[in-house]
Amino acid sequence: MKIDVLLGLQWGDEGKGKIVDVLTPKYDIIARFQGGPNAGHTLEFNGIKHVLHTIPSGIFHKEKINIIGNGVVIDPVILKKEIEDAEKIGADAKTNIYISKKAQLILPTHRLLDKAYEEYKGDTKIGSTLKGIGPAYTDKTARMALRIGDIFSPDFSQRYNIIKSHHEKIFAGYNFSEKNSDYEKEWFKAIEFLKLFKYIDSEIFVNDSLLNEKSILAEGAQGSMLDIDFGSYPFVTSSNTTTPGVCTGLGVSPHKIGEVFGIVKAYCTRVGSGPFPTELFDATGQALRDKGHEYGSTTGRPRRCGWLDMVALKYAVMLNGVTKIIITKADVLSGFETIKVAVGYKINGQLIDYVPYEINDSIEPIFEELPGWKKDITNCKKTKDLPIELLNYLKYISLKTGVKVKYLSVGPDRTQTIKIKY
Ligand code: GDP
Ligand code: IMO
Ligand code: MG
Repeated sequence: MKIDVLLGLQWGDEGKGKIVDVLTPKYDIIARFQGGPNAGHTLEFNGIKHVLHTIPSGIFHKEKINIIGNGVVIDPVILKKEIEDAEKIGADAKTNIYISKKAQLILPTHRLLDKAYEEYKGDTKIGSTLKGIGPAYTDKTARMALRIGDIFSPDFSQRYNIIKSHHEKIFAGYNFSEKNSDYEKEWFKAIEFLKLFKYIDSEIFVNDSLLNEKSILAEGAQGSMLDIDFGSYPFVTSSNTTTPGVCTGLGVSPHKIGEVFGIVKAYCTRVGSGPFPTELFDATGQALRDKGHEYGSTTGRPRRCGWLDMVALKYAVMLNGVTKIIITKADVLSGFETIKVAVGYKINGQLIDYVPYEINDSIEPIFEELPGWKKDITNCKKTKDLPIELLNYLKYISLKTGVKVKYLSVGPDRTQTIKIKY
């Protein structure tokens, strides 16, 4: 058996949570492979709207195993709250969540470091979610992190204090005096709570499960254009959000990768700083934000909105080896007279059709224009119910990327998903 992958092809918030929830009945196991509580994955079903940060989005389906892989960074305070909230609406977290012993801990001082670094950067700040993600991954590569498996070690507090005092030396250098001792208290309480959960050597568990014909879906966080190596550096997150992240974040070999589902919003959004070639600063951008309720699931910040960027999308399809595309939020585009898609960039008077080394604000997008559609599609159930202009838009995306569109999402609810046949 091979492991399927589902990940975002833009700058995050493509609707990964919703689609993982929809696809979960086809799988035995859902596994997060990177990122942490910077993610906000929204699920809607039976009138409930729920946001997950660390827990995989398969948690509301009974008897499905949800693995938090070794590539994930965990803030115990956030994970505890998430578990309690999910249990309130019926999730059986203690039975169905398996945590990799090798997943790394985000310490309270990692959150402060995030803030200190962003303040230091001033106008050039990343626009981080300030959840401590960057500093936590930095300590991982610096080989001075605590992993969640360490919570059972007798010298856990001692090791915690060594890292904390290292962080305090950094704060002194930055003249950063903020403390979060209340958060630290909560953090240690959450550690005790998390001791009741199931810890596994997830690389062994995942590979054994594949050998035993169990089906697994790896759930990505963030989006390909936020990848630490291939995204719009330095305005990125600190992990590999692309398919290779599955190999390192779960311990599977590249040969074991099966389908790669790439999720694309029918337009484009970005939250935080950094270049965004197709960004709209006008009434159309505001209309996309209003209609699409484009406000961050984790921070509530307004998302920047723009047209679909085919140059960046083709790059993401190439990097990830996408085998099927899933388009979300098509309903938000209903009512627009025309729809624009960037098919090239103009930089210093020169036309290019690829993502350059430096993606910066001087890029001018070259647009193609397609006819829009008027019909409200939120109640459409089948391909044949969809307006021809929308079907042409899907075909256009398939043609340009060379990948078939398999599903179309026409609303936030689980049921508002159409299998595309054309
Ligand atoms: P994720 O981080 O990729 O899981 O995406 P988020 O949950 O951060 O953001 C996607 C937002 O769009 C959420 O509020 C979803 O409920 C919502 N959503 C997902 N699919 C659709 C869709 O097809 N139409 C509409 N209108 N909303 C959607
Ligand atoms: P999901 O999984 C959208 C953005 C932040 C910031 C940059 C770095 O919900 O799609 P970090 O907190 O990692 O230091 O932030 O990346 N970012 C996201 N944007 N969706 C996300 O996750 C994101 N996670 C991080 O806004 O620009
Ligand atoms: Mg999100």
